Amino acid sequence: MARKVVLAYSGGLDTSVAIRWLKETYKMEVITLTVDIGNVSDLSAIRQKALDVGATKALLADAKESFINTFVFPALQAGAIYEGQYPLATALGRPLIARLLVDAARKERARAVAHGCTGKGNDQVRFDVSVAALAPELKVIAPAREWKMTREETIAYAQRYDIPIPVTVSSPYSIDENLWGRSIECGVLENPWTEPPEDIFSWTRAPEEAPDEPSYVAIGFDKGSPVSIDGERLDGVMIVQQIHELAGKHGVGRIDHVENRLVGIKSREIYEAPAAVVLHKAHQALEDLVLSKDQLRFKSKVAGEYAELVYNGLWFTALRQDLAAYVGSSQRYVTGEVTVKLLKGNCYIVGRKSPYSLYDYNLATYDSGDVFDQSASPGFIHIWGLAAKTQAQVQPLEPLE
Ligand code: ARG
Repeated sequence: MARKVVLAYSGGLDTSVAIRWLKETYKMEVITLTVDIGNVSDLSAIRQKALDVGATKALLADAKESFINTFVFPALQAGAIYEGQYPLATALGRPLIARLLVDAARKERARAVAHGCTGKGNDQVRFDVSVAALAPELKVIAPAREWKMTREETIAYAQRYDIPIPVTVSSPYSIDENLWGRSIECGVLENPWTEPPEDIFSWTRAPEEAPDEPSYVAIGFDKGSPVSIDGERLDGVMIVQQIHELAGKHGVGRIDHVENRLVGIKSREIYEAPAAVVLHKAHQALEDLVLSKDQLRFKSKVAGEYAELVYNGLWFTALRQDLAAYVGSSQRYVTGEVTVKLLKGNCYIVGRKSPYSLYDYNLATYDSGDVFDQSASPGFIHIWGLAAKTQAQVQPLEPLE
């Protein structure tokens, strides 16, 4: 019996060509695995296509729940946003797919796994490093990194072997989608001076086309995870889907980012991430209410580190787990509700409450209920400013402008 390889299969052109190419080049039996993390419309059609093109077996996995609960919500709790802009949708999906590839390869007694990434991006790194960490015995094959075919040659290859070419192939864009966001690059977007054409967007309305009336939505959190919308308890996948719909309708969640890839390239990517933008903002607003000043300051450093690790393909590492343990602990009182107002491309936080709120009206107010002891301030300021005063006397400051 031929050696086996499990291929991560999307049903697109590259991975369809890869089925045939792997059989021909590596003389391996190809088993496909299609993972649904909110990106697949017709699983059974994809399965049939894999078999038609020459896979011996076509596996399907609905991983929406584990994507949200094991990857997305931990990253949300961490506040992980790459370079202050990208909520990491694609980057969070890859380690999950890698893990399912490994599980399938073990079950099927395959020697190798394969994916459709090119040799220029971050995704190849995420797959390869994740597989290496989880199953060092498995070989990773990346056909599109090896076959050296141009786009036209890949299409010609497909035609030669009667591999159906999806209509999306005529699109000049490269698109990756999952529940947490949609990533769009290539074509005219490669010029960072060019405004993204309206037709690249499919999840969000143009802000100028969005309703003139705002929508208000109250998002409930329990220990840092979203658990309800307007008081109704829902599972994580439903919450993400509902916020996605509503925010998209109001034109919220478009991101235009010139980002730094791990492989040294600056690239311009457009994201649509309506749910991620709203949930990150709401989560942050709740943390602002319940975490101390020092916790917030330290946690924002952890958020930056965490985002780097996720972006750079290091999900399955000890450091990511260490940071996750800190983040988990930091969320134990992040319970409460946040109201957001969605209007014409913007998401405003308009209300927040929590049983663990550190906001004390009687300390904050300028009205009659004030209990803050203003007479204690001069002594506090005397000691707080002592070092600055001492130093300025001995070491005169630079002349002031
Ligand atoms: N730049 C993003 C990342 O590295 C998305 C990559 C996939 N993008 C795409 N348009 N196919 O995570």
